Amino acid sequence: MPVIRFVREGRDVECFPGENLREVALREGIELYGLKGRLGNCGGCGQCITCFVDVVGESSPDSLSSRTGVEDQKLRRRPQSWRLACQALVQHSLLVLTKPQTGLADGDQKIAQAKAQVLPAGPTAWPVVESPEEVDDDNESTTSGEEP
Ligand code: FES
Repeated sequence: MPVIRFVREGRDVECFPGENLREVALREGIELYGLKGRLGNCGGCGQCITCFVDVVGESSPDSLSSRTGVEDQKLRRRPQSWRLACQALVQHSLLVLTKPQTGLADGDQKIAQAKAQVLPAGPTAWPVVESPEEVDDDNESTTSGEEP
């Protein structure tokens, strides 16, 4: 499973491949937002530009899904390594700095320390999903509406 190393928070969080970066962060109690975003954000629609993060390291060049058109438009004056968390799907392990617009004391040193620790590359196998036929067989007696 991919690991997201949140540098500011000093935490490693595992997620499933393809999970949305914003949703993983919120689920894990990672604060993505500054004051403006906490007071009002778009809920992940890519409109408020308050969920940006800086990708400061990757285990693979495609650790996140490609930039969306929304990101290209909204982040055109920001560094190329910045992403909107709500638009990014995690594919492989990576290092993320939340709230990059906010200073981080000893930021360069903390990023270097985070990079020095080995990151797992990510999924060695994709999760197995049951085929619809298997699911239907299991639920046949409960969905027919007939008494057994
Ligand atoms: S939550 Fe609004 S742009 Fe990401």
